[in-house]
Amino acid sequence: MRIILLGPPGAGKGTQAEFICSRFDIPQISTGDMLRAAVSAGTELGMKAKDIMASGGLVPDDLIIALVRERIAAPDCREGFLFDGFPRTIPQAQAVEDADIEIDRVVEIHVDDDVIVQRLSGRRVHEPSGRVYHLEHNPPRNPGVDDVTGEPLAQRADDCEDTVRNRLRVYHEQTELLVAFYQDYVQRHPQGPTRYRRVDGVGSLAQVQARLLEALQ
Ligand code: AP5
Ligand code: MG
Repeated sequence: MRIILLGPPGAGKGTQAEFICSRFDIPQISTGDMLRAAVSAGTELGMKAKDIMASGGLVPDDLIIALVRERIAAPDCREGFLFDGFPRTIPQAQAVEDADIEIDRVVEIHVDDDVIVQRLSGRRVHEPSGRVYHLEHNPPRNPGVDDVTGEPLAQRADDCEDTVRNRLRVYHEQTELLVAFYQDYVQRHPQGPTRYRRVDGVGSLAQVQARLLEALQ
């Protein structure tokens, strides 16, 4: 199964990706997590991405496309994968199409902007794994520490309100165009495997999970 999870920052892509990937036994490819790892390792890519990410802008397409191209060549991607936070621009989506990668499901998780601003203020993350929590909606078993490793949780640097609003603006200007792109793609390839689904991302984690499972049938 090859899946694209589309949706604004804070829609719940990372949260639900964990569940979907274990259910379908496919790797999660989160360009955000890969970039944060590059920033903390101080690689050349990380140095180029750091300030852009802190401002809530998008890292240049050529860097992202090269990163994903290398990742999906790995053996664990042979049976499928889930893209979380990629593609995010028309050139990135076009690169997927040009590489003849057939996507089975493009699933848009829809959440309104005001809900997102509130959600992201309560997000906490386990940086090494990318596991995501929320102070109210999905708290860790023990306050402040990751359920699996017991290591401390952190707040993402780009989760302050001003940066969140900028990320939302960038989403509406550049990434939301992919809704029309993929709807059109499905029409252009009626015999192909790709299906487009939109699910409501507001509700309990379990409710959203059930909607996603249905969308992935
Ligand atoms: P990235 O890491 O992809 O961030 P994002 O798209 O802004 O998405 P988030 O991770 O913020 O949200 P999410 O949808 O994963 O939500 P989550 O599950 O955590 O990208 C970061 C930066 O990297 C970008 O700004 C850009 O600079 C760069 N970048 C990355 N990819 C790029 C690309 N392809 N091209 C160019 N640049 C790129 O959930 C959010 C919170 O809500 C959590 O606390 C969670 O517990 C909670 N929550 C989840 N579901 C629910 C629910 N149903 N009810 C209540 N709370 C919930
Ligand atoms: Mg995420």
